[in-house]
Amino acid sequence: MLRARIVSTGSYVPEKILTNHDLEKIVDTSDEWIFERTGIRQRRMAAPKQTASDLAYEASKAALDAAGLKPSNLDLIVVATSTPDMLFPSTACILQEKLGAKNAAAFDVNAACSGFVYGLSVAEAYIKSSLAERVLLVGSEVFSKFLDWEDRTTCVLFGDGAGAVVVEPAKGDSGIISTHIYSDGKHQDLIMLPGGGSKYPPSEESLKKKRHYIKMKGNETFKVAVKTLEKLVVDTLKKNNIKPSQLALLIPHQANMRIIKATAKRLGLPMDRVFTNLEKYGNTSAASVPIALDEAVRTQRIKKGDYVMLEAFGGGLTWASALIKW
Ligand code: ACO
Repeated sequence: MLRARIVSTGSYVPEKILTNHDLEKIVDTSDEWIFERTGIRQRRMAAPKQTASDLAYEASKAALDAAGLKPSNLDLIVVATSTPDMLFPSTACILQEKLGAKNAAAFDVNAACSGFVYGLSVAEAYIKSSLAERVLLVGSEVFSKFLDWEDRTTCVLFGDGAGAVVVEPAKGDSGIISTHIYSDGKHQDLIMLPGGGSKYPPSEESLKKKRHYIKMKGNETFKVAVKTLEKLVVDTLKKNNIKPSQLALLIPHQANMRIIKATAKRLGLPMDRVFTNLEKYGNTSAASVPIALDEAVRTQRIKKGDYVMLEAFGGGLTWASALIKW
């Protein structure tokens, strides 16, 4: 059977670093509170004029270079983002123009923090059905522009960045073994950015009520995330008859170290088989898994033939996983 394979990875984070100590000067918080509750020490901030497509462009160039490809070789571009350049056109179309990917169709996927893994299932489906030969998938976010910098419960959590992969048909037995995507809209109020859409179009009242910023019920989200992710990772391995001991690396969404540790514990995985970088970048939403994947590849934490699992959880609610033989 035809498989889809990630042939290259790339990532980009903006230069500006915002540390927990910097945040102490903005809101009533402390480095100690943030690090103990989340595992985050610092995050990257986009420059005032940098958009999701700018970050996506840099990550895409790195992934294309790593594969030795030109933008014209692409036939599909999928961008996972919840912080697009604008409501429309899609960030994928803006990226298509920036890259000069003249042969590619382009569209966005919005599944909040699960967006990249959702996008991977889309890329996999296009490749397996032979509807596409070469897909560029990017997760790119500039949450810093949608944070209420007076709300300490959200502004300390998120960061900006982008990660990209090129997906092609697989030769041999390496490639994406399975992808799994899920949703539950009954929890839509746990994480949202309510303003700017057709429910709350732009208005003075909307701005006054700060509807254009991310809102999150952190503690409730935390509880659902732990329960959901523990089941997700166990089910993903079971469906493929793979034991946790066979998993070389788990690459989780980088939202909270306590959530990551609980998920690893459920699988009985030691933390040296779990990739984390949230200390440096915070929660970069749809960009977190591909940035981590790129760092894992470039630091040789993943070798040919390794079983690797990606997993994510986010607004929607949505959650998703992918099992890969590298
Ligand atoms: N600094 C200091 N104190 C704070 C801060 C802060 N930055 N933020 C909140 N507090 C206080 C609260 O006010 C509360 O005080 P109180 O007890 O006097 O009321 C206390 O700390 C505890 O607050 P909780 O919200 O219960 O803290 P919790 O341990 O749950 O940690 C956190 C909060 C880090 C947000 C955690 O709940 C979490 O990580 N949730 C999951 C987030 C997630 O996974 N989201 C999914 C992806 S996001 C997306 O899709 C876009």
